[in-house]
Amino acid sequence: MTSTPARKVIFDTDPGVDDAMALYYALAHPAIDVVGITTTFGNVLVEQAASNALYLCALASREIPVTVGASKPLVKVAVPPPDFIHGADGLGNLPQRVITRGTPDPRSSPQFIIDTVRQSPGEITLVAVGPLGNLATALRMDPELPAMVREVILMGGTVLESGNVSPVAEANIWNDPHAADAVFTAGWPLTMVGLDVTHQVILPLALFQAIAEHHCHRATDTLHHAVSFYSAFYGQHDSLVRQVNGCYGHDVLAFVVLTNPELFTLQNGRVRVAVDGLAQGQTMMRRKEVSYPQYGWHEDIPHTQVCMAVQADACKAVIEATFMRNWL
Ligand code: RIB
Ligand code: CA
Repeated sequence: MTSTPARKVIFDTDPGVDDAMALYYALAHPAIDVVGITTTFGNVLVEQAASNALYLCALASREIPVTVGASKPLVKVAVPPPDFIHGADGLGNLPQRVITRGTPDPRSSPQFIIDTVRQSPGEITLVAVGPLGNLATALRMDPELPAMVREVILMGGTVLESGNVSPVAEANIWNDPHAADAVFTAGWPLTMVGLDVTHQVILPLALFQAIAEHHCHRATDTLHHAVSFYSAFYGQHDSLVRQVNGCYGHDVLAFVVLTNPELFTLQNGRVRVAVDGLAQGQTMMRRKEVSYPQYGWHEDIPHTQVCMAVQADACKAVIEATFMRNWL
C-alpha cells in the first residue's frame, strides 16, 4: 500500500514552550518531515531561539538545519521577551542543560527559506508560529516565492476571540504587524490558526507528565519541565485554564491543522493587519464581499483560510496519540 509521502516543512519559530510542543509533535508525526527550523525573536531573543531549537533537536537525536533570523520587528520598536510566560531561557528556566553539539546553519532564516523552496518548488510548507519577519523578508528578497511555496500555515491573529496582548491583537501579529500584513497580502496559499481555535484547546499538564513517564526520555522530561513553568503562568492569569491546570497549546495546532484538517472549520476571507494605533496587531477579516469606503480593502487582497472552530476533544486526542508514538 503506497502511503502519502510526508509533508516537507520549514518550521519558523520562536521557541518558546508551545513552540517546543509543536516541534516535538512534528518530529513524532509520520506525516511531517521537518527539513529546517528558521528562528526569530519573539518569546526569546533570536539567539536564544536558535540555541533552543538546536538543543531540542539534539535531545531528540535529530539533525535538522537551524538558522538565525529576525532579531527585531521590521518597523515597530521591539518589546522585551515575555520571560514571565516562557522563562528567561524560553524553556521554563531549565535547571540544567546537557552538553550537546550543533551550530546554526550560516545562512539567515530568510535565505534558508528561499534556497530550500527554490530547490523543491511546490513541495515546501512553511509553518510559522512566531512573529513573521523571516517570511516577510524572504518575500522582499524573492517576490516569486508565493508561487513556489506549497502552503503557509501560521499560528497567529484572532477574528472573533479577544486578543492576548490587547483586546484585539494576538502576540505573534502584534510583535511585527508590518511583517504580518505583508504575509497576509502575499497571495500564497495561507491558513491562519488563531486564538479563535487555540483558545478552545487547553492541554493539561498531566498529559505532559504522562508523556514523560511513557517515554522516560530527556526530551520529554525537558518538555514536561517547560510546560510546567508555562502552565503556572496560565494558572495565575486565566481562570478557564486554571480549572484544568494546563495551558493553551497554541503552536501545536498549526501542525494539527496539517495532519487532521477535518477537525477544523475554515472560513475564507481577506485579512489585513492594523500596523499602528490602539488596534496595532489586529487581524481584520473581510468576511463578506461588500464595497467599503475605507481604503485598504480593494478586491485583489488575497484570501486567507481562517480557522474559526475546532473539535477540541478530538484535537487533544490526536495530540496525545501522536506524542505517545514511538518517536524517540
Ligand atoms: O499568542 C500565542 C503565540 O505567541 C504563540 O506562538 C506563542 O509561542 C507566542 O509566540
Ligand atoms: Ca511561538
